[in-house]
Amino acid sequence: MWSIIKRLSSGLLDKNEKTMSEKWKFEDIDWSLFDPQKVKPEILRVIKAGSVIEYNSSDYELYLKGVFRGDEDFNREIESWSKDEVKHGKVLAEWIKLADPSFDFEERFKAYVKGFPIDVEATESIRGSRASELLTRCMIEIGTSTFYTAVKDATEEPLLKQICKKIAADELRHYKLFYKHLQRYQSQERLNLFRRFKVTMSRLLEDQDDELPFAYYIANNETVPYSRHYYTQAYGKAVYSLYQKNHVNSGASFFCKAIGINPQGWISKFLAFVIFKVLSSKAVNYAKAMGA
Ligand SMILES: [Fe+2]
Ligand SMILES: [Fe+2]
Repeated sequence: MWSIIKRLSSGLLDKNEKTMSEKWKFEDIDWSLFDPQKVKPEILRVIKAGSVIEYNSSDYELYLKGVFRGDEDFNREIESWSKDEVKHGKVLAEWIKLADPSFDFEERFKAYVKGFPIDVEATESIRGSRASELLTRCMIEIGTSTFYTAVKDATEEPLLKQICKKIAADELRHYKLFYKHLQRYQSQERLNLFRRFKVTMSRLLEDQDDELPFAYYIANNETVPYSRHYYTQAYGKAVYSLYQKNHVNSGASFFCKAIGINPQGWISKFLAFVIFKVLSSKAVNYAKAMGA
């Protein structure tokens, strides 16, 4: 909790904060592009969820530093990674405030961290090993890069388009960062293909946990009691319909590369086919279940 207090008390949306990443800065965004007429309510709700998750990355930084203690190279790079992610949260929060001036980011973020705390005291990876942790981080970055690319292509709001394009490029760089360190640890741990596949599947199944649905629930200030089942459907309905085949193809290629399979081979293509089918049918089924 100390990290939340530190961040909030230091001025959450300070545009001149020194911790902005080097690739692009808050000031590089052309805020004059904003067009309120083109904001889609469903995308706004999804971006609210994204803003609190992104901003919580400084707690993930503490977790990763605990897991990789003694690895100075990694620890240095993870600080820069965390600054990027926190910046994503800030930029998204600023966009949300333009679209919905009633949105109280500070309050929603506090509620999110209270309801979904990260073990910042951990000294070992919850994935079982350092290589497994890095493989999981690769999966997460593929997921976020694909997500922001899908939002960029789905929204007609020009400012959000610009923001998502920049964030998606950052997420891809993060994938490359974790992949680089994965190679190092993989040469020591030598996880076999079955183990690598198991780790990545575990991460995919984590989509059944509370992180995304709870963020969606809390960031949108829902007043009914939280239900994982209901908000998993609500989040899935809003997000899965954004994905097009090309987004999934690209995500599957990076997925295969991370686990050591030919990214352009038949497995990658088959995987993309299956994932796209699953996402499309989930989007339809969730919409039906929710009476949309
Ligand atoms: Fe991010
Ligand atoms: Fe990232």
